[in-house]
Amino acid sequence: MAESLPVGGFPAFLSSHKTLFIVLWISAFGSVFLWQRDIVGAGFSVFGKAGPGRSMSGSRPFEFNITDFGGVGDGVTDDTAAFERAISAISKLGKRGGGQLNVPPGKWLTAPFNLTSHMTLFLAEDAEILGIQDEKRWPLMPPLPSYGYGREHRGPRYGSLIHGQNLEDVVITGHNGSINGQGQSWWIKYRQKLLNHTRGPLVQIMWSNDIVISNITLRDSPFWTFHPYDCKNVTVRNVTILAPVFGAPNTDGIDPDSCEDVVIEDCYISVGDDAIAIKSGWDQYGIVYGRPSRNILIRNLIVRSMVSAGVSIGSEMSGGVSNVTVENVTVWSSRRAVRIKTAVGRGGYVRHITYRNLTFDDAQVGIVIKTDYNEHPDMDFDKNAFPILENISFTGIHGQGVRVPVRIHGSEEIPVRNVTFRDMNVGITYKKKHIFQCAFVQGRVIGTIFPAPCENLDIYDEEERPVKLSTAQNVTDIDYRV
Ligand SMILES: *[C@@H]1O[C@H](CO)[C@@H](O)[C@H](O)[C@H]1NC(C)=O
Ligand SMILES: *[C@@H]1O[C@H](CO)[C@@H](O)[C@H](O)[C@H]1NC(C)=O
Ligand SMILES: *[C@@H]1O[C@H](CO)[C@@H](O)[C@H](O)[C@H]1NC(C)=O
Ligand SMILES: *[C@@H]1O[C@H](CO)[C@@H](O)[C@H](O)[C@H]1NC(C)=O
Ligand SMILES: *[C@@H]1O[C@H](CO)[C@@H](O)[C@H](O)[C@H]1NC(C)=O
Ligand SMILES: *[C@@H]1O[C@H](CO)[C@@H](O)[C@H](O)[C@H]1NC(C)=O
Ligand SMILES: *[C@@H]1O[C@H](CO)[C@@H](O)[C@H](O)[C@H]1NC(C)=O
Ligand SMILES: *[C@@H]1O[C@H](CO)[C@@H](O)[C@H](O)[C@H]1NC(C)=O
Ligand SMILES: *[C@@H]1O[C@H](CO)[C@@H](O)[C@H](O)[C@H]1NC(C)=O
Ligand SMILES: *[C@@H]1O[C@H](CO)[C@@H](O)[C@H](O)[C@H]1NC(C)=O
Ligand SMILES: *[C@@H]1O[C@H](CO)[C@@H](O)[C@H](O)[C@H]1NC(C)=O
Ligand SMILES: *[C@@H]1O[C@H](CO)[C@@H](O)[C@H](O)[C@H]1NC(C)=O
Repeated sequence: MAESLPVGGFPAFLSSHKTLFIVLWISAFGSVFLWQRDIVGAGFSVFGKAGPGRSMSGSRPFEFNITDFGGVGDGVTDDTAAFERAISAISKLGKRGGGQLNVPPGKWLTAPFNLTSHMTLFLAEDAEILGIQDEKRWPLMPPLPSYGYGREHRGPRYGSLIHGQNLEDVVITGHNGSINGQGQSWWIKYRQKLLNHTRGPLVQIMWSNDIVISNITLRDSPFWTFHPYDCKNVTVRNVTILAPVFGAPNTDGIDPDSCEDVVIEDCYISVGDDAIAIKSGWDQYGIVYGRPSRNILIRNLIVRSMVSAGVSIGSEMSGGVSNVTVENVTVWSSRRAVRIKTAVGRGGYVRHITYRNLTFDDAQVGIVIKTDYNEHPDMDFDKNAFPILENISFTGIHGQGVRVPVRIHGSEEIPVRNVTFRDMNVGITYKKKHIFQCAFVQGRVIGTIFPAPCENLDIYDEEERPVKLSTAQNVTDIDYRV
């Protein structure tokens, strides 16, 4: 792959003999280190003026093999320096379209390292990047500005195994190779309260644009698995994300956080917390940071969460969340299917959220909106910062084996406004009462749905003509026992 060079960047003769040419060029330098240091100068003197520098569909004009930089891949040798050297070499090629780092089959043990712009990390089949478990090897970083604190401890937090800040055009892909955080030791230490800092994610990309993660497996993250933070144009496609469904605390699959233009599609996610959780900062820190998550498309997924939910929004949503579409998603064997969670003090909003064609297969609760998720960074949160929840629609909701298909728990301070249900038929397990639970919710049902809606909602016929308008929007029928 990646044979194409930037158009106009390279004479046709060299282009057609590129492989031979690069081999000769490398051997001429003899030493990887010398080569690495001189690559930019050499590149420019040989190739002349840089071309447009655009790479096509993840392919790059330069390809490297981690073994060229001293990587061993035996699962025991520390390959951190090899990754750092390889990425340093690629960092000098940005103007020429960047480089691809190939990771061949093997187990590549590494401490955290940083990516660079215009790079592709390519994991061959049976290539596995393994995170070093010794937390002393994980650098500490300042808390995220929109959180104020580490999510678990005050002060600094551990960075991620694979990290990036202020990048553009980064691709992590392959033939289903994997990145394995070896989170087991972190989960145990977390439960035993032996950690002094918030655990690090597996992959975290901050303040970056044009990020693609595809065709790989991510597993056993110490904490959240993929955390794009304040990024624009992020695509996750055809990725498998795995962690044990129990005993792997906070191993969310994907957490788009203050991100814009995100697509997550064709993925399988089964983890120890939310499969997906869309966020945008925490209480007063998130309100001040003020960056929403918006324009997010989630489709064609199979997800599972025995501890939390398939697709969540919140609970940290203080920068606002809007224009999210969740469609063609199957949630199976899960505690909850889809959930919006927030609390007084968050401020912000969750609006223009469209759920379409969801299948719930064996879940305790189907649709959940919760407004008292009272976890706060500190007690200085604004007691009058009430989040706004509105314009949320559910169309084509099907399933079986669900105990409570709907639980929308608005409150006087955080009512849920303009919720729409249409074409819903969710098979319940056994109880018949309290299966469509509501409190402080205003909205409508179009046509017939099963189970029958709570009395809080207006009823419209299929042609959207009002049949019965509710006068009971604030009536509370919430029962956490069923
Ligand atoms: C990388 O180098 C190793 C060892 O030389 C070799 O076995 C492997 O085929 C190379 N892989 C790629 C993708 O070039
Ligand atoms: C990665 O970059 C960030 C930001 O510059 C820095 O804080 C961190 O220490 C770097 N991590 C490593 C492993 O070099
Ligand atoms: C998904 O990725 C796998 C490798 O992980 C690949 O074999 C398959 O072709 C990809 N599917 C699509 C639709 O891209
Ligand atoms: C990729 O690997 C994961 C983990 O081994 C596996 O569950 C998944 O089915 C594989 N995907 C493809 C497309 O082969
Ligand atoms: C946490 O801090 C305590 C007290 O300073 C120290 O003994 C311990 O080694 C630290 N643990 C970790 C995992 O850094
Ligand atoms: C988003 O990122 C992809 C992958 O880098 C790129 O091909 C595409 O042009 C970007 N879209 C926009 C609107 O910038
Ligand atoms: C995933 O792999 C398939 C099959 O090899 C390939 O066609 C596709 O382009 C890859 N997708 C991405 C986004 O890299
Ligand atoms: C909403 O998000 C979609 C992507 O899911 C985007 O195409 C659309 O333009 C966005 N709508 C608005 C009003 O920004
Ligand atoms: C939903 O899934 C069906 C069947 O796999 C597919 O035909 C359709 O294009 C998908 N819809 C979207 C929006 O991806
Ligand atoms: C609904 O989504 C499921 C996958 O969850 C898909 O198989 C089905 O074809 C989709 N239906 C439509 C009408 O898109
Ligand atoms: C209610 O929400 C729907 C989308 O679900 C939107 O089309 C409609 O404009 C909203 N109504 C009001 C009054 O905001
Ligand atoms: C329902 O509660 C909202 C505030 O949450 C309030 O504005 C409204 O007047 C109440 N309606 C009734 C009928 O009590």
